[in-house]
Amino acid sequence: MHIRILLAGLAVACSCATAQAGGEHERRLAAELTVIAGDTRRLMTGEAGPLERDGLVKRLNGALSSLPLLLRRTSDDAIPVASIRALVARRDWRGVSAALATLKHRHPFDARQLLVAAPTPEMLSLGASIHQTTCAGCHDVTTGDTLLPAKNLATQLRTMPREEFAARLLLGVHGDRTTRWSNPFSNFELSSLIAHYSK
Ligand code: HEC
Repeated sequence: MHIRILLAGLAVACSCATAQAGGEHERRLAAELTVIAGDTRRLMTGEAGPLERDGLVKRLNGALSSLPLLLRRTSDDAIPVASIRALVARRDWRGVSAALATLKHRHPFDARQLLVAAPTPEMLSLGASIHQTTCAGCHDVTTGDTLLPAKNLATQLRTMPREEFAARLLLGVHGDRTTRWSNPFSNFELSSLIAHYSK
């Protein structure tokens, strides 16, 4: 009897763990698609300088290399990625954008956990203090046209939908290619940062 209860408990625990892992993969994939689509838009509108455009294309190719793995993890088909890569090689940003729209439709990014309509004063001061201690060193200095510049985050937020900024934050504070940190922040800390940058 006890064993049966124990086993039942284990089964529940296991299926929750799997569901959570699945949810995390899905969230990561959806965020990744949002960022890739956002970078494609930046290339399409020509808003970046020539060096930064190179950096964006490199980053796009890097992201497309890991996309098949992310798609498989969510049991989706990785085949469309090959044609997206071919479109990138031809610099056909409209084509890339259309192909991504289909994938994004299948894997919508839900930013609700990170976007708070009415942040509390505590959130605003938490966001300000995280920014000051861990982000300002790189993001509050002006850089010219470089491959992938660290930008002023409050300014950057105003140039894109808030959902897209949230996806960029979620995927992490990656610094440059050599650091590539994964995100150490909780949803609450990330929403506080977004609230701070939205002020
Ligand atoms: C060591 C320097 C460094 C630190 C510290 C740093 N960043 Fe960055 N960050 C960068 C650079 C360089 C880029 C541009 C490279 C890129 O976009 O891949 C960047 C890009 C970003 C982006 C945009 C990514 C995109 O998709 O365009 C966001 C958002 C961001 N950082 C948030 C943060 C936040 C929030 C913090 C603090 C918690 C932080 N960063 C700390 C260097 C840094």
